[in-house]
Amino acid sequence: MSELPAGVVLEFARPASTIALEAGALIRDFYHRGVATEYKTDVDLVTEADRTSEKLIVERLNETFPGFGIYGEEGTRHHIEREYRWYVDPLDGTTNFAHGFPVFCVSLGLEYRPAGLAANEDGSLVAGVVYDPMRDELFVAEKGKGAYLNGKKIFVSSTDDLAECLLATGFPSRSRHQNPNIYFYQEITLRSHGVRRAGSAALDLAYTACGRFDGYWEFNLNPWDTSAGALLVLEAGGTMTAFDGSPFQLDSREVLATNGRIEREVTRLFQNMFAGRELEPIPTPEEFAAKRAARGR
Ligand code: IPD
Ligand code: CA
Ligand code: CA
Repeated sequence: MSELPAGVVLEFARPASTIALEAGALIRDFYHRGVATEYKTDVDLVTEADRTSEKLIVERLNETFPGFGIYGEEGTRHHIEREYRWYVDPLDGTTNFAHGFPVFCVSLGLEYRPAGLAANEDGSLVAGVVYDPMRDELFVAEKGKGAYLNGKKIFVSSTDDLAECLLATGFPSRSRHQNPNIYFYQEITLRSHGVRRAGSAALDLAYTACGRFDGYWEFNLNPWDTSAGALLVLEAGGTMTAFDGSPFQLDSREVLATNGRIEREVTRLFQNMFAGRELEPIPTPEEFAAKRAARGR
């Protein structure tokens, strides 16, 4: 049951959760009723559910957080010069939604941008809420307060070897022909337990935060996709970086989330791939078994 942690003061995430639950219920209704799909570009879809959800979220955020800015995927640009800015993805996983594949969510991330910050500098992430209405799973985080799933504290996994990890990635709907991710997908798939491509970046990050995935990466996302999930990962003890291990930035176009323990192994592999260097051979089944035996597993 979607609940919040008892006895933990969540100044921003608690009221934002009420809004995400309401928006989640709305998109779940649309899902059961069925909606027409429109094209933003060749494969970038949008539906009435995306727009209606954003409208509802914006109304509720304005009532609950007067004086905060709002930056929404479906076009809302409301006082974005303000110190606090909500990033709104009213329906993350629209392609899934439109095809009747029940993996999508609402994502609300709050950034604090103190006065004087340059437009290209990030402030700090202070709250994040990701709600999956099909599973009634509510992920919340607030800076310094931890991350929670349906009221229970969550932590990243403790797997320390990429070969024993389950990871996630995604492929953009814009400029997909220019995206090199299929090569990264192949390499990581062959060097791990597998890579899931479930179609919702915010849920991929939330699943990394609670240890269902050991890591997640993607090219070319936007702050509405990543802001809430990034705080979930960080508050659950994980890392958020670019592909070379440098700090994650909301508009960096590179997102790598890990449980911390595999970060070096993944960034080294990515850097070698970008540089066109020869990669370490993929271990044979015998080598893999010997490595596990040597670790007493
Ligand atoms: C998309 C999803 C998907 C990711 C795409 C995003 P949307 O968001 O998060 O997993 O691979 O890059 O654009 O358009 O469904 O909100
Ligand atoms: Ca999205
Ligand atoms: Ca969306």
